[in-house]
Amino acid sequence: MSRSADSRGAFRRIVLLVIASAAASATLAAGTSPRFGFGKPVSEADLAAWDIDVRPDGKGLPEGSGGVMGGEAIYEAKCASCHGSFGESNEYHVLAGGVGSLKSAHPERTTGSKLNHATTLFDYIHRAMPYNAPQSLTDDEVYALTAYVLYLNDIVGDDLVLDRESLPKLVMPNAEGFYPGVGFMSVDGEPDVKAPACMKNCPMSGEETSSLPESVRGAHGNLALQSRPLGYIRQGESTAEVQAAVAGGGATAVAEVAPETLAEQVGCLACHAVVGTRKLGPSFNEVQARYQAEAGARAMLLAKLEAGGAGNWGEMPMPSVSYLPATDRERLVDWILSTPATGATP
Ligand code: HEC
Ligand code: HEC
Repeated sequence: MSRSADSRGAFRRIVLLVIASAAASATLAAGTSPRFGFGKPVSEADLAAWDIDVRPDGKGLPEGSGGVMGGEAIYEAKCASCHGSFGESNEYHVLAGGVGSLKSAHPERTTGSKLNHATTLFDYIHRAMPYNAPQSLTDDEVYALTAYVLYLNDIVGDDLVLDRESLPKLVMPNAEGFYPGVGFMSVDGEPDVKAPACMKNCPMSGEETSSLPESVRGAHGNLALQSRPLGYIRQGESTAEVQAAVAGGGATAVAEVAPETLAEQVGCLACHAVVGTRKLGPSFNEVQARYQAEAGARAMLLAKLEAGGAGNWGEMPMPSVSYLPATDRERLVDWILSTPATGATP
């Protein structure tokens, strides 16, 4: 999200350069010997096509309007294939959920939980989505989709309609969560890295001349694990603990929880019942009943957890859970294959 804001200054400078060079070439074109003989002056329309940024206070928002009701159908048609019907996004950025969780032990960084300005959501969708056809949406559609994504986050009700007046007035749950004006890790309010460009006799070998203090390195835990799409994260509170856990195959982190608790914690039970009715995937005792007599079932199921895939129970794919430590996956499969086959298969 911050990328669009960060690049704004750079974008302005480019526009100014384009204007300056257009002015220069216009002068030249009028003269007798144009030096390059190509290019054309930038028109208002050309500039307008580039000048699409929307600021936190709403400056730059276009005319038009759209609401949650209208947004749903557009979302299903143009966004759900990548972001999921509920914004849960198995593969791509998670759009919904986790609101209010950022300061908890299990922060979920989603669009809804992290954004500080609703106007940025409009800007982002308008500028960059759908990923496969950016800037193909009408302004009304972008208003409707903005409203719908906010609705998926339970931030607004289903009767919300947005326009350039109302959108900037929405207060996002994480409005106060950003700290502007400090260096990366503030050293007297200045960025703590100074990197003069080396133009000659530059060192050829990489040599570490400074490093972040441990208090800073561990400040947010292991972001890669926290950003995984499913379930919440069992981990130590510091990077060192997480690294130790991962190096040890996850053993330190998981030794004490029972397999069923583990399945609950890492999100399996969102799609699988242990016993009984089929949810998105088969119930685990159904899986057990099908494979109990089959040699190689354990290896096959481990491969499935690693790679994901569909076809054994229906069209819906099982997501890859390769981000779980191998020992967790083995415990889960061994447990599934040993759950009592109660015969409650639907
Ligand atoms: C083809 C897959 C695809 C489709 C379709 C798609 N997106 Fe995305 N979306 C992505 C990807 C990939 C990213 C991350 C892009 C990046 O970081 O450069 C993303 C990022 C986003 C983000 C920012 C997430 C964040 O918090 O940083 C929003 C909001 C978003 N999409 C909304 C939408 C909406 C609304 C639609 C429908 C109009 C849509 N997307 C359609 C793939 C898709
Ligand atoms: C988003 C939903 C979802 C989540 C979360 C999920 N699964 Fe699945 N799972 C499925 C679906 C759908 C299938 C059926 C795939 C098929 O038809 O081949 C499946 C199939 C399976 C199977 C049977 C595989 C086969 O080929 O017969 C096992 C075992 C399994 N899941 C274990 C797990 C475990 C363990 C977790 C948690 C780490 C988990 N699943 C999380 C949806 C899910």
